[in-house]
Amino acid sequence: MQEKTARETLVDKFGRRVNYVRISVTDRCDFRCVYCMSEDMQFVPRAKILTLEELKQIATAFVELGVEKIRITGGEPLVRRNVLKLLRDIAQLEGLRELTITTNGSQLQRLAKKVRAAGVRRLNISLDSLDHDLFRRLTRTGNLGKVLQGIEAASKAGFEKIKINAVILKNRNHLEIASLVEFAIQREMDISFIEEMPLGMIGDHDRAEAYYSSDEIRSDLEERYTLIPTSETTGGPSRYFEIAQTGTKVGFISPHSHNFCDTCNRVRLTAEGRLLLCLGQEHSIDLRHVIRSFPNNQDRLKDAIRQSMSIKPQGHNFDLTEQPVIFRHMSATGG
Ligand code: GTP
Ligand code: 5AD
Ligand code: SF4
Repeated sequence: MQEKTARETLVDKFGRRVNYVRISVTDRCDFRCVYCMSEDMQFVPRAKILTLEELKQIATAFVELGVEKIRITGGEPLVRRNVLKLLRDIAQLEGLRELTITTNGSQLQRLAKKVRAAGVRRLNISLDSLDHDLFRRLTRTGNLGKVLQGIEAASKAGFEKIKINAVILKNRNHLEIASLVEFAIQREMDISFIEEMPLGMIGDHDRAEAYYSSDEIRSDLEERYTLIPTSETTGGPSRYFEIAQTGTKVGFISPHSHNFCDTCNRVRLTAEGRLLLCLGQEHSIDLRHVIRSFPNNQDRLKDAIRQSMSIKPQGHNFDLTEQPVIFRHMSATGG
């Protein structure tokens, strides 16, 4: 068969190819995780949130510009009404290799099969503890039983891979590390451990005190398992190790201890339509303004996206000892 003409690609001024977009479909969530939100959150009024049609239009523009991977995030993406329709539409875009979701699992008992049928092949589910009381304290409002039922439903729904994501906080859930890994091994899932990032005021704990590095997690695990480094990448920030004899992969997302900005291949769209060029910086352009000022003008939209590449910063400079410099919460950003 003859090769099609090469697709356009997005490249920033540091020569990094951007082929991955994380799209937040809502800043709302049924949980209030202590590292992500404050207890009292002001959510964005609905009129300011992109409609499903607008989200589809922007996703289409990115795919036409060479993006191959889209992750739907939030807030909790599965609380957005009619999100399944958006998933179906995006999954069908020609040129897209992978559509994935990051979810807190609370809606999966009801939706796992439908999400799979919509064309999502891989799923990342956040789970920070297997202890009911601790889970409640970490999420403030979450119900572990419901999430575990959701994970069970997801494992029967035929996803190609499910990955657990856990944010580890010292003296809160660092003693859960081994049981979370055991949970993943038993279900043939992968697991990533994330260092907390200073995004938004959370009013819960001192982030410097709660810092538990990926190296500490790794050495805790090495008391029990043999971790074999792999060169595998999913196009995300995790560095993966394989647990000998199990095939389970353990990933480390280490924005503080092993910065991965030099290979950054992604940008993110907030639920309000702000295109953030870096998770840890404020450089952004307002795509909602572009599509509402020039409705159905795909060329204008694509031009705005192309131009945004020139302001993608080299990297983040998180500092846990200062008050956060980035005031937006992860929920508003698209985790
Ligand atoms: P896959 O490999 O695609 O399954 O994803 P991943 O493990 O590489 O990352 P995932 O998309 O599950 O993201 C997990 C977490 O990593 C996010 O919730 C963020 O906390 C963090 N993360 C993802 N992208 C970035 C990034 O560009 N910068 C920083 N600092 N953190 C990121
Ligand atoms: N630092 C690191 N990870 C965070 N998440 C939310 N807030 C933070 C933060 N401040 C993670 C969640 C979930 C994903 C949506 O983002 O644990 O895995
Ligand atoms: Fe909701 Fe995810 Fe933030 Fe927890 S981390 S409050 S589940 S958006």
